[in-house]
Amino acid sequence: MPFAPALSPSAKGFSPLPTLSRPARRQPITPVAGRRPRAHLWQIGCQMNQADRDRLAEQLQEIGIDPESRQQDADLVILLTCAVRQNAEQKVYGKFKELSSWKAERPGRAIALTGCMAVEHGEQLLQRLPGLDYMFDVREPEGFLSKLQDAFCVELDGPMPLPASDRLTAYVPVIGGCNEMCTYCIVPFVRGRETSRPLQDVVQDVARLVERGVREITLLGQNVNSYVDPASGVGLAGLMRAVDRVPGLLRQRFLTSHPRNAVPELFSAMGELVTACEQLHLPVQSGSNSCLARMKRLYSVEQYKEQIALARSMVPGLAISTDIIVGFPGETDEEFEETVQLMQEIKFDVVHMQAYSPRPGTAAARRSDDVPMEEKKRRLARLLSISRDSALAANLAQVGRVAEVLVERLPEEGSMGFGRTRQNRVVRFSGTAKVGTLASVQLQSATVSHLVGTVTVAPVGES
Ligand code: SAH
Ligand code: SF4
Ligand code: F3S
Repeated sequence: MPFAPALSPSAKGFSPLPTLSRPARRQPITPVAGRRPRAHLWQIGCQMNQADRDRLAEQLQEIGIDPESRQQDADLVILLTCAVRQNAEQKVYGKFKELSSWKAERPGRAIALTGCMAVEHGEQLLQRLPGLDYMFDVREPEGFLSKLQDAFCVELDGPMPLPASDRLTAYVPVIGGCNEMCTYCIVPFVRGRETSRPLQDVVQDVARLVERGVREITLLGQNVNSYVDPASGVGLAGLMRAVDRVPGLLRQRFLTSHPRNAVPELFSAMGELVTACEQLHLPVQSGSNSCLARMKRLYSVEQYKEQIALARSMVPGLAISTDIIVGFPGETDEEFEETVQLMQEIKFDVVHMQAYSPRPGTAAARRSDDVPMEEKKRRLARLLSISRDSALAANLAQVGRVAEVLVERLPEEGSMGFGRTRQNRVVRFSGTAKVGTLASVQLQSATVSHLVGTVTVAPVGES
C-alpha cells in the first residue's frame, strides 16, 4: 500500500492531529449485551508508545471500558503505530489486513488508529483504509474518548476498578517531542516540539506507581537530556535526585540520551544516587565524522569517545548501549569502516542497528537512497557479528561476580527464575528469592543474551 511521500498538515506544522472519524459510520460499536465494552490495544514502536499505551489503558478504564481484552473477545481494537522506518509501517498495514477479517466476524466492531503514523498521514489514511473507523492523536485523546462514550450504545457502568499492578517496571514520560531534527528522522514531525512535564507531576507519578507495586522506573524522552522543569529550571540530573527520594523505589533509569547534551552532571547523579542504575543508552548512529555531519548530529566521533571515557570513569560498572544506522545516503565503504572501528574500540554492551529507510518530509529523503539494500544487509551482518562478540565478552566478564538482581519471576519446576541486573543484563537463576525484591546472585555462566546464576546471601556488588 504505497503512500505519496508527503506529510499530513499537522505533521508539517508540528501540531496535534484533530480526532477524525468516518462520517458514514453506520453502526454504533455494540458490545455483547450485559457486559462492559472491551478494547484490545496493539502496539509497536519505541518505549514512548509503551508509555502511551499504558496511559490510554488507564483512560479507557476511567470511562468504563476494559482495555486488556484479548483481540478475539474485543469490540474495539486500537492500533498504536510507529513511523520511524518503512518496515514499521508495513507491520501496521499487515496487522490492519488481519483486522479486516476480525471486524467482519461480528457486526458492531470498530478499529481505531493512533500513534506516529496517524500524525504522519492524517486524514488520507482514513480514506485509504476503508475499514478504519477512528483516528486520533495519542497526545490529545480526549476527543476520541468522548466519541467512544457516545458510540457505545449501552450505559457505561462507571470507572473500572484499577487492579493492583503486577508490573515491577514502568516507563514514565518526562519530556515529549524532539527539537533536534537529525536529517533522517521523522520523530520531530510526528511527536512535535520538546515539552517538559513539571517535576512535581513526574515525582507524583513515580510515587503512585510505587504504591501500585512498581519498583523500577525509566524516565523517558526522545531527547531526555533536554528535560527542564518549567517552574524551577531544574534539569534531568535534578529530576533524578527528586525521584531518588521516592520511598519504596528501588531503581531508576533514563532513555534516550543525545551525545550533544549528555552532561557530566548526569554522570555524577548516576554515580551518586542509590536508585540510579549504571546503564547509559547513547546513540552514536555512525562512527564517521562526515556521515555524522550529513545526519546533523552536532558532535564528532572524538567528542563521543571522550564522553564515553568520562562516563565510564565517573560511573563504575557502566553498561553502554547505542543505535547505529547503516547505509545512510552517501555512506562510503571508508565511512562504514570507521563505524566498524568505533564499535571495536568502544565494545558496546548492546547495539540496535538499522538499515537507513527514507522518511517523508525529512531532509535526508531529498537525497538519493544510494546504498543498495544488499550492501546495507552486508553492513548490518558485519556489525551484528562485532556486537555479538562484545556482548558475549561483557557478559563473560561478569562470571564469578555477585550481581544485584531485581527478581521478576521465581524459579519453577522446569524453568529458572528471571530478573535483571542494574546494568539491565538478563539473569536466569535458581535458588530462593522473592518477587519485587533485590536478590544477590552468584553468576556462574554467560551467553550473548543472558547470565546464569544462583541466589546467595553474599553482599551485592556487580561492576
Ligand atoms: N531519540 C533517539 C531515538 C530515535 S528513533 C535518538 O536520538 O537516538 C530510534 C532509532 O531509530 C534512532 O536512534 C535511529 O538509529 C533509528 N532511526 C531513526 N530514523 C531512522 C531512519 N530513517 N532509518 C533507519 N533508522 C532510523
Ligand atoms: Fe530523531 Fe534525532 Fe530527535 Fe533522536 S534526537 S528523535 S534521532 S531527531
Ligand atoms: Fe516510532 Fe513514534 Fe517511537 S515513530 S520510534 S513510535 S516516537
